Amino acid sequence: MCGIVGYIGTKNAVDIVYKGLQQLEYRGYDSAGIAAISGGELLLEKEEGKLINLEKHLSKFPTTQEIAIGHTRWATHGKPSRENAHPHATEMFALVHNGIIENYEEIKSELIKEGYRFQSETDTEVIVVLLQKLYDELKSIEGAIAKTFSRLEGAFSLGILAKDDPESMYLVKQGSPLVIGRGSGENYFGSDITTFAEVAKYAIFLNDGEWAKVTKDSIELWDHDGNAVKIKPTPINWTPGSADKHGYRHYMLKEIHEQPAVISKAITNFVEGNQLNSEALGVNALACEKITNISIVACGTAYIAGMLSKYFLEDLTSLPVNVDLASEFRYRKPHMLKEGKTLVIAVSQSGETADTLASIKHAKEAGCQIMSVCNVAYSSIDRESDSTLLMQAGPEIGVASTKAFTSQILCLYLWANAFSQRIGTLDQIGVEKMLEKLSSLPVHVNSAMNCEEGIHDIVNRFYEFPNFLYVGRGPSYPIALEGALKLKEISYIHAEGYASGELKHGPIALVDKHMPIVALAPKDDYYDKTISNIEEIKAREGLIIGVGDDQDQTLKRLCDAVIACPQVDNAAFQAILTTIPIQFLAYYIAVKRGTDVDQPRNLAKSVTVE
Ligand code: AGP
Repeated sequence: MCGIVGYIGTKNAVDIVYKGLQQLEYRGYDSAGIAAISGGELLLEKEEGKLINLEKHLSKFPTTQEIAIGHTRWATHGKPSRENAHPHATEMFALVHNGIIENYEEIKSELIKEGYRFQSETDTEVIVVLLQKLYDELKSIEGAIAKTFSRLEGAFSLGILAKDDPESMYLVKQGSPLVIGRGSGENYFGSDITTFAEVAKYAIFLNDGEWAKVTKDSIELWDHDGNAVKIKPTPINWTPGSADKHGYRHYMLKEIHEQPAVISKAITNFVEGNQLNSEALGVNALACEKITNISIVACGTAYIAGMLSKYFLEDLTSLPVNVDLASEFRYRKPHMLKEGKTLVIAVSQSGETADTLASIKHAKEAGCQIMSVCNVAYSSIDRESDSTLLMQAGPEIGVASTKAFTSQILCLYLWANAFSQRIGTLDQIGVEKMLEKLSSLPVHVNSAMNCEEGIHDIVNRFYEFPNFLYVGRGPSYPIALEGALKLKEISYIHAEGYASGELKHGPIALVDKHMPIVALAPKDDYYDKTISNIEEIKAREGLIIGVGDDQDQTLKRLCDAVIACPQVDNAAFQAILTTIPIQFLAYYIAVKRGTDVDQPRNLAKSVTVE
């Protein structure tokens, strides 16, 4: 997803902005660029592809410039190319943009009629040309920015340089995240706090409708109507996660292997002796006694974690639980949203997913209580929520979510227990029984890692198949969906996840000796029915990769291959354990196929556009 960065101060602005862009690489992008003001001139370099392609041009900037803006682009309008890369510029302005301008075609045709010409296919270039036009008419930078702002529709966080004002950066915030980092004698801005968290002392989060003028010693903020807004600096206490690969070939492999530690850390954070830490779990900030129903909203893997949590949330709380894709939820008139009584739980690793953020705002308008399960402190979703359960899983850099997924499962499960205890549907004895099983989970997760060694034979046998099916019952059904999502997003193989019981309602027509099927068969309440499904697949010559107990002779007899995982008698913990083999399977198939595992094509780590 697009990311914007800026710096003004006394140091080498281009270097600082380039480093800020590197912090945003994890978001996924296809081109990048930097603009600076030096010697009264706007200087600009941009390139298609990764930052390394831009780095070759940085020497064209003088080392003296003290103000610069930068951008990593994830193409929305116009293909990835140098012409479409940001910054976009006119004679007076250079501009970077994160978001989508929904009325850009209308504005562009007006400007073309007035004789303006465009170099790119982007919506963004319309902003800077409109800005230039209004500046030519008003002869005021701030006037032109305010009038441009009022004309635009859609989501946009903007960073703007004006050649005639080399002492200032101008910012506009609407829909997409934008935060200022305040230093001493220097100031920063970025799409998220990671771009400056290690160098700035305070963060100032802009709200929708606000715009700012930032010099190296001052920050002025106005609302959409031009009224001054008091800035609210948030101290930054950032402990940078070890965001390097530590010898692993890919971030994704490192993050798969971090899972035992992440699970252990969650236990330390959320369990105190024989009690759950209801404060850290975000229970105390909610009016729990008022809640009559729960609605979970999320996207992608986070949505699947939400699907899985429904199985134990309903069981523990005896409350109805809905799970919705955020991209659907935000446009529906959901009548189940009862003011004060519906708890909306937003699940998001990045805390910046546009659809999930919009769903929270939609639910807030209906008066719902909002809780988020999130991995990034100070993120937009964190700040929009009444209560946030910070997963503290450490930075997840690989676009394909792994440790965040298993962390989400555990966090949602522990929250469900603490919430149930609070509303009286779970007693202390129940909590202690659960905690006893929880205490051995890190060991089981660690031993689940052992399947990595034996997986290569299976990978070598199946990596060239063009299609896969994943099937599971009960809590294994969401894990089947997750397995299919992992495989398709990093290996580009078409893969679908199904509830095993659904096979005979259509998908079994796909089963023949050319179709590998990953069958999740833990020794749980659904085991016998799952074995029946596997028999049905075998009767049609399907190629079966079983995931289950390595002592399960039935599974070994029926399957072409078995990936072993530890067995436990807790559905949430078993789901975590069953996830690990399918993560390794997807990872090593993708490596075998030579795809960009950490930054797969077309994908972004944080989808900040709708
Ligand atoms: C998962 O592997 C994908 N990268 C994607 O589906 C992701 O889970 C989704 O975009 C939600 O992201 P979030 O958790 O940051 O909101």
